[in-house]
Amino acid sequence: MVLNMSLTISNTAARPGAVTDPFAIYVHWPFCLSKCPYCDFNSHVRHGGYDEERYVRAIEAELAANAQRAPSRTVSTIFFGGGTPSLMQPSSVQAILDAIAKNWSVAPDVEVTLEANPTSVDATRFQGYRTAGVNRVSLGVQALNDASLKELGRLHTAQEALDAVAVARKHFARYSFDLIYARPRQTLDEWSVELKLAIAEAAEHLSLYQLTIEPGTPFFGLHKAGKLVTPDEDLGRDLYDLTQQVCADAGLPAYEISNHARVGAECRHNLVYWRGHDYAGVGPGAHGRITIDGRRYATETEKRPEAWLMRVEASGHGLIVEEKLTPGETADEYLLMGLRLAEGIDPQRFTAIAGRTLDPKRVSILQGEGAVETTADGRLRVTQSGFPVLDAVVADLAA
Ligand SMILES: C[S@@+](CC[C@H](N)C(=O)[O-])C[C@H]1O[C@@H](n2cnc3c(N)ncnc32)[C@H](O)[C@@H]1O
Ligand code: SF4
Repeated sequence: MVLNMSLTISNTAARPGAVTDPFAIYVHWPFCLSKCPYCDFNSHVRHGGYDEERYVRAIEAELAANAQRAPSRTVSTIFFGGGTPSLMQPSSVQAILDAIAKNWSVAPDVEVTLEANPTSVDATRFQGYRTAGVNRVSLGVQALNDASLKELGRLHTAQEALDAVAVARKHFARYSFDLIYARPRQTLDEWSVELKLAIAEAAEHLSLYQLTIEPGTPFFGLHKAGKLVTPDEDLGRDLYDLTQQVCADAGLPAYEISNHARVGAECRHNLVYWRGHDYAGVGPGAHGRITIDGRRYATETEKRPEAWLMRVEASGHGLIVEEKLTPGETADEYLLMGLRLAEGIDPQRFTAIAGRTLDPKRVSILQGEGAVETTADGRLRVTQSGFPVLDAVVADLAA
């Protein structure tokens, strides 16, 4: 029987031994209607169809397996990512949320996000997701002009995307959408107009990603052959600076390198990753980080959907990696993730994890170069001019 999520969510009594840190659940739905030529996410097209119920049952099994390893936690956020989770039936989303509530306590203010493709068909399911317990959607709009959408291989038009945003607005107090910029031939002026239109349509949150050319994708081959020309480093930098400026002026400052929100409207689920807290990952190719008896484990499941399904059906979980992280590795991850955030990291927490302090000489050199700064409350953060060279800053501090 499918339990009613609104009832089960209100059962919030913390179970004995529950730890109070945020705890997130990531559910990966690996299917898409077509594969976009820039995308290297674990997403698959199955023209012959797939047995949705069987996948849902396997996800339920993985949730139970995770709860056995990490019981006594209170779930603060849940994220359905993909792939295209908005291909799922609302009853499947309901069954997964019920399974989460059966295995753990769930916080009364739990954030439940579902990634949706902005097609009219997907939008017809929004009411059902809301009833199932989803309270935030994240739409992959990608661009607000049809020529770009076509070049990106998207199945929707700009108008259809805006219509889906309007449906999201009707059903959800919280919604966000993604745009990809630094696209072929994109000028600063064009991006400025498009971004302002997006901000007018956004409520509280926008994710703005610079197009990256990922190895193994069709865009990679085209780019290598000179048939897909993307903005050079200087224009890319100018587009990034423009993005920061326009969003900050509109009250949507970056709280993470690619994520913008009104204060208090940040995606709490992604903050769990970036602040170095625990999360269970279920579904094909999902990653997790779980602390058991004071030691942090990195987990990863089998990526190929059918192989994952067979593993789960045979052994109750699809794990192919379960690695105990050393304190040094955990501390490096804290740097890598935490320095993406505008709030930066807490050097004392770094010391507690790593068993060593950050090298004061390296910090001081990076401060001298203007790449990092220390805040009044003692946090270390990357500056506006340091963000474009974030990888180098992290590598320097982690070494
Ligand atoms: C899991 S994906 C997509 C979710 C959903 N299936 C969709 O396409 O609407 C999350 C986001 O990553 C971004 N993304 C994916 N590949 C990218 C790339 N190569 N460069 C920049 N952004 C990318 C897109 O904005 C996308 O919405
Ligand atoms: S961008 Fe989204 S819809 Fe396109 S292939 Fe990737 S996950 Fe699927």
